[in-house]
Amino acid sequence: MAIKVLSVASEAVPLIKTGGLADVAGALPAAVEPHGIEMTTLLPGYPTVIAKLNRAREVHKWDNLLGEPARLLSAKHGGQSFLVLDAPNFFTRDGSPYSEPNGKDWGDNWRRFAAFGRAAADLAGGAVKGRRFDLVHLHDWQAAIAVAYMRFAPFAGRALPSVLTIHNMAFQGYFSASVFPGLGLPRTAWSIEGVESYGGVGFLKAGIQLADLVTTVSPSYAAEIRIPEFGMGLEGVVANRGDRVLGILNGIDTREWDPSVDPALAANYTARALGKRSANKRAVEREFGLEGGDGPLFVAISRLTWQKGMDVLPEVLDHLVGNGGRLALLGSGDAAIEQALHAGAARHHDRVSIRIGYDEALSHLMQAGGDAILGPSRFEPCGLTQLYGLAYGCVPVVARTGGLADTVIDANVAALGQGVATGVQFGRVDYHSLASAIGRTIALYRDERAWRTLQRNGMACDFSWSRSGAAYADLYRKLSDEGR
Ligand code: ADP
Ligand code: GLC
Repeated sequence: MAIKVLSVASEAVPLIKTGGLADVAGALPAAVEPHGIEMTTLLPGYPTVIAKLNRAREVHKWDNLLGEPARLLSAKHGGQSFLVLDAPNFFTRDGSPYSEPNGKDWGDNWRRFAAFGRAAADLAGGAVKGRRFDLVHLHDWQAAIAVAYMRFAPFAGRALPSVLTIHNMAFQGYFSASVFPGLGLPRTAWSIEGVESYGGVGFLKAGIQLADLVTTVSPSYAAEIRIPEFGMGLEGVVANRGDRVLGILNGIDTREWDPSVDPALAANYTARALGKRSANKRAVEREFGLEGGDGPLFVAISRLTWQKGMDVLPEVLDHLVGNGGRLALLGSGDAAIEQALHAGAARHHDRVSIRIGYDEALSHLMQAGGDAILGPSRFEPCGLTQLYGLAYGCVPVVARTGGLADTVIDANVAALGQGVATGVQFGRVDYHSLASAIGRTIALYRDERAWRTLQRNGMACDFSWSRSGAAYADLYRKLSDEGR
């Protein structure tokens, strides 16, 4: 019999995306479906989500969901089943899902996502007639608090098994103790075994503590978060869960990311006809106003943050350009990083070009036209842009951390000798390491045969969802058997 899973996420393609979480939550239902899993995704009703819903039906109403009225809408989109929490006082706002138009976090995020978690827990408990689930899969802090409600203030129904996936330890949903009374949890939840964390309320901490199983999005990151540098204060809670914390690598949606049919490209191609990539390279150069040339075109598609090492990039621009490279960058984030990048672009105006903003179609074209994609992350739970790079023959140049370490084979002497390298990796995220990795990349690029092999090896990698979809389905099956 099919296992019915309620997946709870604050974003999922094709309805709302700010980062990789949306790619993963959006792809998961189709990834597990062949393995007998029926997944429904619960999302907050941001205006962009509600606007995209077609023929939504109201299936439940709350007069008082953490103090506000709310209703639950059910709709199909692209063959997927969605439930959407329409709670205008929480979600009908301009700005991003998490922050005001000026970039500042919404001051009531604790209440907005506590309401979201409360709704998920009600659904899990069977509050909505005709909606029965066997298991709940929570993503990140915005959903993690659901498990506290399931444990400490359950809806009258059956207690369901739960999985929490950590997509990023840096975002913990940590709030002051003063929010606790507003959560509507009993006093017993205020403890080390519950939501209390360093004297405040920790949404992600509660999830790690209480979920039956915790996954993160690569095996290396699952190991890294047991130490302070990556656990960011929660390493002890993670370590305490022992083998109940494990890593399952993200896949990529190969229907969205296939260079042989991608409609965003100037020319479609396969690994056998890599020459056709040059039409895409010209298109990227035109789009970014870069001069043409023989040298490698580096691209970066990224949030402009410390996590992504984007503060180091401006430092290496002179080196990159001095060695014959060019750079096209698409991203947005920290104002100081944007400024430093703009200053670098001004120094090398036809060799470095920066586009601030978010543009899905352009990101596809850049993967198809770029020679190499830069990923100097200080930590990276999984990372998707290097996987898209591999699939598109855009060679990843990445830091050796988390999912980047797990998915790219460095072009060292051994790997080159065996003909198995797929990219370039470097250790520390600083000027010297990045500059030397860029130097190595440019040297490889100049050796046409070696470069083609790197590209073809990458394109031959299978990072589709097939393996990880099966792994999640196995987990769900084990947990629902344990729960019987
Ligand atoms: P994270 O979720 O930490 O930002 P990932 O690599 O997992 O990093 O996922 C980022 C996703 O967002 C990828 O799909 C990437 O292509 C996309 N992305 C990031 N920045 C932009 C941008 N400025 N324009 C278009 N897509 C972007
Ligand atoms: C987070 C991580 C990223 C990961 C994504 C999807 O945003 O920063 O590494 O790929 O989630 O799991």
